[in-house]
Amino acid sequence: MVQASSTRALITRWLGSRTEGSRLDPTFLARLGYRFEAIAGLALRLYGPRLDDPDAFILRVADLLATAHASRPPELRAGDAARERRVAQGEGPWYLEPGLAAYMAYLDRFAGNFRGFRERIPHLERLGVRIVHLMPFFPCPAGNNDGGYAVSDYLGVDARLGTVAELAETARELHRRGMYLAADLVLNHCSDEHPWALAARRGERRYRDYFHVFSDGAAAERFGRAMPEVFPETAPGNFTFVPEMDAWVMTVFHRFQWDLDWSNPEVFIEMLGILLELANRGIDILRLDAVPYLWKREGTECRNLDEAHDIVRLLKACADVAAPGLAFLAEAIVQPSEIVRYLDSGSVEECQLAYHASLMVLLWDALATGKTAVLSHSFGEETRLAPGTGWISYARCHDDIGLGYDEEKILRAGFTPRAHRRFLLDFYSGRYPGSFARGRLFMEDPRSGDARISGTCASLCGLEKALEEGDEAAADLAVKRIVLLHGLAASLTGIPLVYSGDELGLPNDFSWLDDPALADDNRWMHRPRLDPEALARSEVEGTIESRILGGVARILRLRKDIPAFAPDAPFEILHPGDEHLVLCLRSPKAGAAGTRILVAANFTAGNRSLRLPQVLSGLGVPSRDLLAGGDAPSCLDFASGRIVLGPYALAWIELAGPGRTDGA
Ligand code: GLC
Repeated sequence: MVQASSTRALITRWLGSRTEGSRLDPTFLARLGYRFEAIAGLALRLYGPRLDDPDAFILRVADLLATAHASRPPELRAGDAARERRVAQGEGPWYLEPGLAAYMAYLDRFAGNFRGFRERIPHLERLGVRIVHLMPFFPCPAGNNDGGYAVSDYLGVDARLGTVAELAETARELHRRGMYLAADLVLNHCSDEHPWALAARRGERRYRDYFHVFSDGAAAERFGRAMPEVFPETAPGNFTFVPEMDAWVMTVFHRFQWDLDWSNPEVFIEMLGILLELANRGIDILRLDAVPYLWKREGTECRNLDEAHDIVRLLKACADVAAPGLAFLAEAIVQPSEIVRYLDSGSVEECQLAYHASLMVLLWDALATGKTAVLSHSFGEETRLAPGTGWISYARCHDDIGLGYDEEKILRAGFTPRAHRRFLLDFYSGRYPGSFARGRLFMEDPRSGDARISGTCASLCGLEKALEEGDEAAADLAVKRIVLLHGLAASLTGIPLVYSGDELGLPNDFSWLDDPALADDNRWMHRPRLDPEALARSEVEGTIESRILGGVARILRLRKDIPAFAPDAPFEILHPGDEHLVLCLRSPKAGAAGTRILVAANFTAGNRSLRLPQVLSGLGVPSRDLLAGGDAPSCLDFASGRIVLGPYALAWIELAGPGRTDGA
């Protein structure tokens, strides 16, 4: 491998090459000095073998960082400094601020466009969320574009949604209100109509090298042999034949999403420039779409390879120099032990946040079975994180529910993995006798019997069926299930996230079937448009919408001031000896004030009661149920020393000493 010159010599050379050398911002230079060695090391590790002149490459990266920092708006620079100060003063990173809650939405479905979004901010404030993830708003081809995840211009804004200026203004408006903006960086692939792909089709060598292209079909077949299929039903295989190129192009997701070849240093430079520009528009959190897939190597699954981690580390080290306020959210829907690797990455940081996909699946597992053993046994060791990182905890998002959790945990809970998965699929697709759910199977693979699940939170929780059947009691239970899942996402660990429409109990939306661009992707059934009538009903007391919105908002509001619910505060699952309950002890972080909270949840439609002295022995004495009040009775019965949990009830029992104070 070609070695770069010593870091010091290289920085000196770089400074000499910049005409504005002495005028460079001192804070920028300090950050660059601090990160330079990491950047050079990672760049060499990833790209050394492909670079004729590694020094020149590293200097190009430094140039990009200087240019991006120079054009970073002053208010964002001030924000960076404030965020750095927080950490220096021991207050922890901004994205783990206690009380944060998140919301994700397709802009068009939520508010029409950027202009309409402004009018919907009060709804978000009422719900109590402060992080807003607006799903891909970039130009993309007409027709099927995978919900905007086939990007044809990373720096543009889809004209139907607004303009680049409106995007930046939206970020400013959110910041003014103490909120944050999250957006996607779809870095694994671009649309087949992206100018890079068009140039590759025209035969331009430079751009052909941006993709994984095989002239020999057999070689492509060999390369793809160990790669799983993401959309086996609608986009089988991992390569697409492109006639004008007379070659096979790697397309892991859809045929129109071309995988970028990140082993090409030019691809890195392009994406780094894009990332820094998006950060300069005021985006606070970049969601790294499909991040496990970044690096491909023949003979492997082409997921979670070490180089994929190095790319993210390198991007983060660069962002820390030019836009240090930016946080990365890993979209890594893989095995739990692999997800944590995107967060817990040693000395150079990688992602700061990741979706807690395993918790999400475990919640649905417990809801279908009414039993909590799989949840209680899985939600343990492997989900503990490194300091400075946190989970995004959620019940539903815009994607399907994949049953990707450890078989061993299913076995330990007394289920047979294959039969258990079958049961869950049957249950949520409504085929299982007595099921309350109205979902559909997504990407059913007849060969393996595998499938994933689509459906809105409300429909999977039984609301659609109950309302259709005019069954009020069943609707009441469904409402309780919806609030319970959101309540657990808000109190087990991490930052809770609400998917647009779930806060109103919106049912499956079947209009996707009438749109040919959407019709072969049933994930659209759980991406409903925010129904203005449902929104209006949410303001009327006693309606289903107001009960759901009110229930979730109340939980988020109360959670805000409870130190034990800080996103990275410790948790411990207790095993109460009742297979229908979840008990989780939350403690304030070491050194933080506050009391411990026992989170208790009932996953059945009946009442459950539990004597507390046994489970709490040595942990503290229950003093009150923080969720009691209004319509909600206290679950604490002092006379009998029990908690009594009604159907699908959630309780937050505050504990007074004695007990451990070490935050363990
Ligand atoms: C992510 C998105 C999903 C999309 C895929 C391909 O998983 O969440 O909606 O289909 O990436 O970009």
